[in-house]
Amino acid sequence: MISIAIDGPSGSGKSSISKCLAKKLNFVSVDTGALYRSIAYYFFKNNIDYNLENNVSESLKNIVIDVKYNNNNQFVFLNNENITGNIRSDEVSMISSQISSMPCVRKYLLSLQRNIALKNNIIMDGRDIGTVVLPNADVKFFLTASPKSRAQRRYEQLLKKCPNITFYEVWKNINERDFNDMHRKIAPLKPAKDAIIFDNSRYTFDESVSYILKKIKERINFETK
Ligand code: DC
Repeated sequence: MISIAIDGPSGSGKSSISKCLAKKLNFVSVDTGALYRSIAYYFFKNNIDYNLENNVSESLKNIVIDVKYNNNNQFVFLNNENITGNIRSDEVSMISSQISSMPCVRKYLLSLQRNIALKNNIIMDGRDIGTVVLPNADVKFFLTASPKSRAQRRYEQLLKKCPNITFYEVWKNINERDFNDMHRKIAPLKPAKDAIIFDNSRYTFDESVSYILKKIKERINFETK
């Protein structure tokens, strides 16, 4: 099986780029952020305190996360309920950033992620894919962009769902999450030693996809659609 790891901060374009690449390569695109978000959604929906790791660890016993793929689209299930459309709010984003610093949560999701990679050719995106989840991935990328461009992209996405949201709120949320993700003790966001680092602030979406595809083809030999 072939695995490609794409890590990077929020708004770096990793999920949409991964999806597009997966289509071209006929791989499965695994958005691991959605898994952390699914656990966060459990706490949000049931109004359960997620500040203490002991509580979170206990709650994990009541949580089953499942992932399914259909036509290159990923669907996440929380205790058999399809929650794919419910996990993108700002509240869920902040909770996911907080709970993802807890070892019990990372351990809980590690085998799920690795099992998907065992069965499929994949492009997996997240924060620690190249460093922890798939240290032997065939090609690794670390995508980044300036905080302003990342906040602008995220703002444009969120405006469709939340017309009252302000650029400042999104920018603040992105900065807080970046800080949490980069400074946590376990599996912090950082490039793997062998990752190709790509700052795409000045690249269009299509240019970014072409650049990454070119790099993948330089390292792996196969047909694309
Ligand atoms: O990529 P995203 O914004 O959907 O991720 C949501 C949160 O999940 C993010 O703040 C950090 C966490 N996350 C993580 O810690 N490790 C991953 N591999 C993916 C996401």
